[in-house]
Amino acid sequence: MSANNITAHSAGGYNFYTLNSGGKSFVIGGVPEQYAGEYIKTATECDAVILLTSKPEFTGGMDALLDIKPDIEVYGSPAALRNIKEIVNRAVNERLIKDGMEDHGICFHVTPGLDWVDTVMAVCNGVLFSGQAFSSEAEGAKEYYNRYLAVNSGFVLSALDRLADEDISFIYPFRGEAQAPEAAFAAYRILAEAPERSSPRAVIIYSSKYGYTKALAERAAASLGAAYKTKVFDADICSAAEAADAINAAKVFAVGTRTINRNAPQSIWDIITRIDTVNKRGMPYFVFGSFGWAGDGIKLIDKTLAAMGLRRAAKPVEVLFKPTQEDLDKIDKEVKELMK
Ligand SMILES: Cc1cc2nc3c(=O)[nH]c(=O)nc-3n(C[C@H](O)[C@H](O)[C@H](O)COP(=O)(O)O)c2cc1C
Repeated sequence: MSANNITAHSAGGYNFYTLNSGGKSFVIGGVPEQYAGEYIKTATECDAVILLTSKPEFTGGMDALLDIKPDIEVYGSPAALRNIKEIVNRAVNERLIKDGMEDHGICFHVTPGLDWVDTVMAVCNGVLFSGQAFSSEAEGAKEYYNRYLAVNSGFVLSALDRLADEDISFIYPFRGEAQAPEAAFAAYRILAEAPERSSPRAVIIYSSKYGYTKALAERAAASLGAAYKTKVFDADICSAAEAADAINAAKVFAVGTRTINRNAPQSIWDIITRIDTVNKRGMPYFVFGSFGWAGDGIKLIDKTLAAMGLRRAAKPVEVLFKPTQEDLDKIDKEVKELMK
């Protein structure tokens, strides 16, 4: 594949590109260390490396390249330059990429979070060098998106907006075939917007052996359901991944947990540990449960969610064994706080 001044190379299924522009030769993209031979041979012929990210999966040839050509220019975002120096453990001949910057006919866009925080994209002669975005492995573009980028769907939408005014004829990604921009952009917009559109706005998960925590969960559902589309998951029956997906797409959530042997049950942890702490940072939550002696499970879940960066929007409701009417009223009161 070759477009004007651009040549595509591939090693082990990883694409990298050489580009001659404005009298300077660049290599864009990279490979894991085990495929570095071909990359290094090509890159040593170039004046500069453009790092679309510092992620080791795509910079596995940098260390050896710098051994051979220590003065080669290295273009990257501030984060990518910081990271790469810690990955190759040496100084590099750095060229800082700023958003909107043009250099030798290449226009740079800072598009963080795809999937590392340091990612940028480059456009030259109508070709978008997109990094992991618009990539695919054997399993397909949608699966690649879900595996690597879905966690940062907000960043994906920002990148699409950022690129909207660019005149792009082809997309050259890190993995898989070159893409036509219209179809690829439209597909990514649908993927990135989908979870928000189709999901309930409130989610309750609970674990209850004797039905006491379940009674609290049902009351919370009735209370939340008045204002939010609400989905309830019994943690001991449901798929943990499905419940976590629902939380990750919701606006607020509540956790009802019994306490067993000074802990919350494994089924609750299985869901909690799948919460998307990147995108759900600051998401309001509320914890409740029935307990017998100290209620450590409720406290542990409450503290853990706070430590994960979610927002405790309501006071935990801890109920000794069977809930009274007063306990159920407390649930109503705290759910109101959750919805504020
Ligand atoms: C095996 C077992 C261990 C328990 N360990 C604790 C504990 O460490 N701390 C506590 O406060 N309650 C403990 N409990 C009490 C339960 O949390 C309590 O019965 C609670 O009401 C159960 O709520 P549920 O009806 O929603 O299952 C334990 C109960 C069982 C059966």
